Amino acid sequence: MSVEAITAAARSPETAREGFGFYVHVPFCVSRCGYCDFNTYTASELGAGVSRETYASIVRAEIRAAAAAFDPPPNVDTVFFGGGTPTLLPPSDLAAILAEIDAAFGLAPGAEVTTEANPESVDADSLAELRDSGFTRLSVGMQSTAPHVLEVLDREHSPARALAAVDHARRAGFAHVSLDLIYGTPGETEADFAATLKAAVDSGVDHVSAYALIVEDGTQLARRIRSGHVPRPSDDVAADRYLAAEEALSEAGFSWYEVSNWAKTPEARCRHNLLYWEGGHWWGAGPGAHSHLPGVRWWNHKHPSTYAAALAQGLPLAGSETLTDEERYLERILLRTRLSVGLPVSWLRTDGMAAAKQVVADGLAVIEGDRLRLTLRGRLLADAVVRDLTA
Ligand SMILES: C[S@@+](CC[C@H](N)C(=O)[O-])C[C@H]1O[C@@H](n2cnc3c(N)ncnc32)[C@H](O)[C@@H]1O
Ligand code: SF4
Repeated sequence: MSVEAITAAARSPETAREGFGFYVHVPFCVSRCGYCDFNTYTASELGAGVSRETYASIVRAEIRAAAAAFDPPPNVDTVFFGGGTPTLLPPSDLAAILAEIDAAFGLAPGAEVTTEANPESVDADSLAELRDSGFTRLSVGMQSTAPHVLEVLDREHSPARALAAVDHARRAGFAHVSLDLIYGTPGETEADFAATLKAAVDSGVDHVSAYALIVEDGTQLARRIRSGHVPRPSDDVAADRYLAAEEALSEAGFSWYEVSNWAKTPEARCRHNLLYWEGGHWWGAGPGAHSHLPGVRWWNHKHPSTYAAALAQGLPLAGSETLTDEERYLERILLRTRLSVGLPVSWLRTDGMAAAKQVVADGLAVIEGDRLRLTLRGRLLADAVVRDLTA
């Protein structure tokens, strides 16, 4: 992929017409959680050429280079700072990056601006500063309220710290606050997860993401399981936990809108993630970040040092792909099936239509009007449903 291809996509009428998002990756963590394979580095893993102190100015250079690809740059509807731990950077650095996006692209009126936050990396003052500088949404990684579960996950914070972060965020005036939960961790009991859900509901957040613990290859958790120190998470337990999440959250007034995401109101849904799931367009800045503009996708160099060195020469592109029609079809079905708005049946090919009838007969989905929507059982088996629809 050349810079010319990106520029052509950036200047296409389709980009100007549709919503546009900006993702900023912040690749730093104090320590690495044993289950995590995200592109993040502790201080000792960072090489030369980049540091937490210089990061904001480096990523701001990418934002300026990104804007130069457009003519004119589109307004940004959603911004998402993810990691890593974005809130390891001082609030003034996050504010400066956001201000650069605003100066280079322009934030659309009512733009959603989210940052992920680890509980131990924020306090009342830092959250007030982030709110004052334009952040509207906070996503706090609580994972669990059971101390022994947090220990298996290598989390650095106490349960109380996560709830305090939610409280500080609401007092600071964040319109939307979300909690991330992980279920199915070895050693977690049904009662542990019920208590976690209760704490999440009682905290007053308007959004919850709940993910089954995935054992990623190459992580410390995978090694501990292989060596027999930790039991492997069970699919049956994960299914039970998912049902418990649905029950507790729906009783508390949340509705699912993506298989792993629940919101109290339509306004509380994460617009940035919806943009990904609905095949929208975004620029991803920072090491390893992925971008998507009409017909093109690319990703940046993964290691912060390599990224910073490449950025000094131009856009820090590491690779790209142009999806074939078949790949685009599969991806659209995969993402849409997982959303509560459902899959327009007209998107399916003839063989997919036949599979859809079987999925409905098996009680995994219903067809309402022109939409195929997963049932609760279908949500548990969403991957299998997608496989059937696209076989
Ligand atoms: C990569 S983290 C970044 C945010 C922040 N550093 C934190 O840990 O809260 C985003 C979310 O991904 C989820 N996550 C990461 N690795 C996972 C895994 N192996 N299985 C399930 N969820 C995972 C966690 O819930 C986490 O809150
Ligand atoms: S704090 Fe978040 S990003 Fe960092 S290692 Fe843990 S889960 Fe991964």
